[in-house]
Amino acid sequence: MPTNDQVTDALRAVIDPELRQDIVTLGMVRKLDIHANGVVDVTVSLTTAGCPIRDHFQTSVYNAINALDGVVGVNVSFDVLSSDEKQALRGKLGRKSLPEGALAEVKNIICVGSGKGGVGKSSVTANLAAALTAAGKQVGVMDADVWGYSQPRMFGLGGGRARANERRKIEPLVGPEGIKVVSIGFFVNEEQAVVWRGAMLHKALQQFLEDVEWGALDYLLIDLPPGTGDVSMTLSQLLPQAKFVIVTTPQAVAQSVARRSAEMAAKLELEVAGIVENMAGFTTPDGDSYPIFGEGGGRMLAEELEVPLLGQIPLTMALRQHSDGGLPAVISAPEDAASQALVATAKQLISLSPVDLPMMAEPEEPKPVGMSLPVIS
Ligand SMILES: Nc1ncnc2c1ncn2[C@@H]1O[C@H](COP(=O)(O)OP(=O)(O)OP(=O)(O)O)[C@@H](O)[C@H]1O
Ligand SMILES: [Mg+2]
Repeated sequence: MPTNDQVTDALRAVIDPELRQDIVTLGMVRKLDIHANGVVDVTVSLTTAGCPIRDHFQTSVYNAINALDGVVGVNVSFDVLSSDEKQALRGKLGRKSLPEGALAEVKNIICVGSGKGGVGKSSVTANLAAALTAAGKQVGVMDADVWGYSQPRMFGLGGGRARANERRKIEPLVGPEGIKVVSIGFFVNEEQAVVWRGAMLHKALQQFLEDVEWGALDYLLIDLPPGTGDVSMTLSQLLPQAKFVIVTTPQAVAQSVARRSAEMAAKLELEVAGIVENMAGFTTPDGDSYPIFGEGGGRMLAEELEVPLLGQIPLTMALRQHSDGGLPAVISAPEDAASQALVATAKQLISLSPVDLPMMAEPEEPKPVGMSLPVIS
């Protein structure tokens, strides 16, 4: 029978392809039980639940242990690192996260991203912000698409300028219904191209988070640029506590897009909260439905990543027109089918977020009991 040390040593051969270190050094081997009958149970912690390289770990861990003398069976199971453990791992790998205290009053941070451009991330972000606000939540939107920012336009804040307040903090601009918005568009002129990359970009994004007076928010939604570029990587490092919502379209041929989204999710190491399928069919005023962009893509990706499908948003004229018109459709056209689907999606999101415990109710006066015991005479 191999000893604990021997099994651990064997597991040093299993390398995390993304982090490029072995799983023992990374502290991802969580539980190890070597039973007298030659069966070894091992639990490996992944950075995200929907980790597409899970199969890789499954096979390599199995092979590494099974090759040892005396082993007759290997059970590999998985769990997910907590935010604190992820943060510790980042520290070990020399990655930076935000200083303690930044965003202290922000309860939930949600990054809205996709593997591909033009699927409706920015429209979904703006409308989810509006829907969360309508549900009584305090909401901020950070436009992290520094090269193709669109949130100023979505909230009718185009041409706006961000200013510092007396505490030398940047004030977000306030859009409809009190939604706080920060975008690179408030710092540069429309025709000025943003060319930041690397360290400059990292610094700018860090400032958007650290030096902006976001105040108390229930949700900070972050509109990501498409794909796993510098911006997404930087944000996932700065915000290990953030969750990730993937926007996708229903195309069946979107297999490769779905795969790219899944790979992105794993690379970003953020927990995927769920999938939003956008452009899911077009319904005519007569009620006929046409699946213009196909069907099933959202469900497929949700199943692949083992996360919920939070909503399916149909294609509607209102969604496009009102986004371009500076007032999200959820506010300006609440009866629209896409608006309603977005309101439902926001509810799903709320139901997944940790809730504040209700204040302890005042003890009530004891009520008179309605039925009295029969008197035994
Ligand atoms: N459900 C929908 N119905 C109608 N039009 C939509 C819908 N979703 C998005 N659009 C339109 O599709 C276009 C692309 O949407 P949007 O800009 O939100 O996508 P994006 O993923 O943020 O794009 P990019 O990758 O360029 O940032 C916009 O013109 C938008 O108004
Ligand atoms: Mg966009």
